[in-house]
Amino acid sequence: MPDPLADHDQLASALRLVEREAQAYLAGLDDALVRPPVTPGGVIPPLPDAGDGSLPALTALIEAARDGATRSAGPRFFHFVMGGSTPAALGADWLTSTLDQVAFNWVSSPFAAHIEQVSLGWLKEMFGIPADWSAVITTGATTGNLVGLATARRWWGLQHRRDVDADGFGGLPPVPVFAGGYLHASAIKALAMLGIGRHNAQVLARDAAGRVDLDALESALRAEKNRPAILIATAGDVNTGDFDPLAEMADMADRYGAWLHVDGAFGLFAALSPATRRLVRGVERANSVSVDGHKWLNVPYDTGFAFVRDAALHAGSFGATAAYLGAEALARPVFGNLAPEMSRRARALPVWATLRAYGRDGYRQMVERHLGLAQRVARQVDEAPDLERLADVALNVVCFRFHPPDVPEAALDDLNRRLGQLILEDGRVFFGTTDYAGKVAFRPAIVNWRTREEDVDLIVRVTRELGARLTASSVPR
Ligand SMILES: Cc1ncc(COP(=O)(O)O)c(C=O)c1O
Repeated sequence: MPDPLADHDQLASALRLVEREAQAYLAGLDDALVRPPVTPGGVIPPLPDAGDGSLPALTALIEAARDGATRSAGPRFFHFVMGGSTPAALGADWLTSTLDQVAFNWVSSPFAAHIEQVSLGWLKEMFGIPADWSAVITTGATTGNLVGLATARRWWGLQHRRDVDADGFGGLPPVPVFAGGYLHASAIKALAMLGIGRHNAQVLARDAAGRVDLDALESALRAEKNRPAILIATAGDVNTGDFDPLAEMADMADRYGAWLHVDGAFGLFAALSPATRRLVRGVERANSVSVDGHKWLNVPYDTGFAFVRDAALHAGSFGATAAYLGAEALARPVFGNLAPEMSRRARALPVWATLRAYGRDGYRQMVERHLGLAQRVARQVDEAPDLERLADVALNVVCFRFHPPDVPEAALDDLNRRLGQLILEDGRVFFGTTDYAGKVAFRPAIVNWRTREEDVDLIVRVTRELGARLTASSVPR
């Protein structure tokens, strides 16, 4: 098979093959073990000189996926914070590849640009973000944080009468960045990528869990003596789902003229339910906000969003011009100039489709179902004599550990770490360990649209079953 052109007539068969296999894979997802049946690896074969055509290649890939794919799109994957793909979003994602639009601007694809503009408008409505903010679809909350903090960096430079995007940081003082202990690794990574420096974020926490110390924050801002600073608030801590107090941090940003960036990767979905809406109060007063799509919105990887109050600052951070790109009417956002990538996948299509398919009410129902499921798990943890809940359940994450009454504290971290490994290997449910307030703990997060009571009930059942097996065989008493 020397040339793809010779494969032209196989296109319909290739799509039929993938459709048939996708149906089978998705039909098995609700009941499959989460961990892959086989761990992929081994020697890397040489690049073939002569290919064998689309159907044999796809068949080989499908077989490898059947063996090696983590069933993370299914209902019992509670590790990290990973959603699945709603039927509408998955269908639209197939369409995205089929249409293969380049979502750079209104010339490369007016269709993709329009769908992106509409989707972002709907998301602003959903999250309570003012309609006149600038916004862009990113590849996730890490890039959402990057976009928000890049804009903050631009603002900070301009306060020092420097266009840092044009002229760099040379000669300027370090950028003061303050956050509570919920600060996510991805925001720190964004600070590193932006040259602000990963060590430059000062974490002001009042306890080992990471709750922000507002008094210390106020003192730190006062000590800056009106020099510009950046605050990062986290709406939805990965360990517990807890929130930094956004309104209080917005007040402080107002008082000291600081930039407030909110990382709301999954937590911003609290805006959908009257039961949790108070948690996001104040987000509309931030300067920039990052949210994920592939978590609670349940669109496929990789999708996220950045929202920025000041459109000119946003455009200034990511602008790029070249004669061949053409001039754009400024009234319309050039999405490829609002985020790192210029050539961009039309990630808006699944976002648009899922919002159109399920609407605000559908998402509210899903979020409320997940809130209820998290409380159900919390109750089961509380009732189990060998489990200990470590934090309140503010949202959709339940933080707990295995703690049989006769096991000494000193042995618990090691026991929970080993139990975490057993749970991943077992595969009926999937969640890993974290470090919460100095203790090794589990933190299953519920965000998948497929997840039901029978799925979450396995969290406690499997933990206790494997925990009992582990203690019976090994732990010193
Ligand atoms: C609070 C928070 N911010 C940012 C991220 C990073 O998101 P992504 O991996 O989609 O870039 C996560 C992921 O779990 C998160 O929980």
